[in-house]
Amino acid sequence: MSAPNKSYDPVEVEALKPEEIERMRDEALAAFAAAADLQQLQEAKTAHTGGTSPLALANREIGALPPQAKAEAGKRVGQARGAVNKALAVRQSELEAERDARVLVEESVDVTLPYDRTPPGARHPLTTFMERVADVFVAMGYEIAEGPEAEAEWFNFDALNFTPDHPARQMQDTFFVQGPQGGDAADESGSGIVLRTHTSPVQVRALLARELPVYVVCPGRVYRTDELDATHTPVFHQIELLAVDEGLTMSDLKGTLDHMVQSLFGPDMKTRLRPNYFPFTEPSAEMDMLCYVCKGASVGNPDRPCRTCSSEGWIELGGCGMVNPRVLIACGVDPEKYSGFAFGFGIERMLMFRHNIEDMRDMVEADVRFTRPFGMEI
Ligand code: DAH
Repeated sequence: MSAPNKSYDPVEVEALKPEEIERMRDEALAAFAAAADLQQLQEAKTAHTGGTSPLALANREIGALPPQAKAEAGKRVGQARGAVNKALAVRQSELEAERDARVLVEESVDVTLPYDRTPPGARHPLTTFMERVADVFVAMGYEIAEGPEAEAEWFNFDALNFTPDHPARQMQDTFFVQGPQGGDAADESGSGIVLRTHTSPVQVRALLARELPVYVVCPGRVYRTDELDATHTPVFHQIELLAVDEGLTMSDLKGTLDHMVQSLFGPDMKTRLRPNYFPFTEPSAEMDMLCYVCKGASVGNPDRPCRTCSSEGWIELGGCGMVNPRVLIACGVDPEKYSGFAFGFGIERMLMFRHNIEDMRDMVEADVRFTRPFGMEI
């Protein structure tokens, strides 16, 4: 900064010479014009209009000038600063407009693009259907009971009155996990381990663990050494029911089965029982339900064939019966005082005819084209 100039005559201060001021102004204008974006413009603004910019420094010299020189220099600097600020404002709005236009393009959303969000997951129709069946019984006061999938052979077979040479124990049916460990043959200690071949062992667990009377429903996964094909799968689901109380009879079983099919398939449904054999029920029966599609109208009526029941009028559901007293005894229940009924059936089969599914593999392959039509029930 120059020393104060006390003289009345205009004094030439280098920084305030018209050509100097013009040069400062032009440099500022050139810098603004060269700023390619708002960031660069901000830098140019600081350099050319900030407190240490050439014009600001020149402006400070003015105070030391004699009055007339002060007026002239003040006007020059003032005009130059005015021009600089104006150019700055113009460039600022140009660059802002450019930025806005660019953001509009870069951040635009094409609402016509195909929907690409990952759809939310949903539970498998087998799971939701199995729960729907269980709910029918929960609504009647039954409790859900569970057991392990890797089950003691004693629960899976012995306690259910399967003799040691029963064919169901053979290798072609059962996945054996661990051989017998030695121990008491009369209970599960030392028993071998199998992947449970049915949900019936949960009957035994429920009877051993609960106070009588027992009313339980046991949905779950079971395993058999079958190859996966259109009608078989080595892993499938069953639902088991057990009621043990004083005075239960086969008519209670029949009424419970009728109520189940009416709840699931409609009020005009019914079931029928055919004699059969299971080691853990006596008497035992095979249970069929009326074909929910033709309601029996296809039987002997070639004009009205039914694909769902092959014009049989009935659909085979599973097994049932009165709990064998031997099972009650194995569970410490007095068969003189208590009686019970039980049934069990496969969920896959029921889902298949309920929805006309022709290939069992569709149910295990996790292809959303199969599961999506069942809806997103969670
Ligand atoms: N556990 C048998 C099976 O998997 C089905 C069954 C039959 C269950 C009769 C029962 C029953 O509860 O009483 O083939």
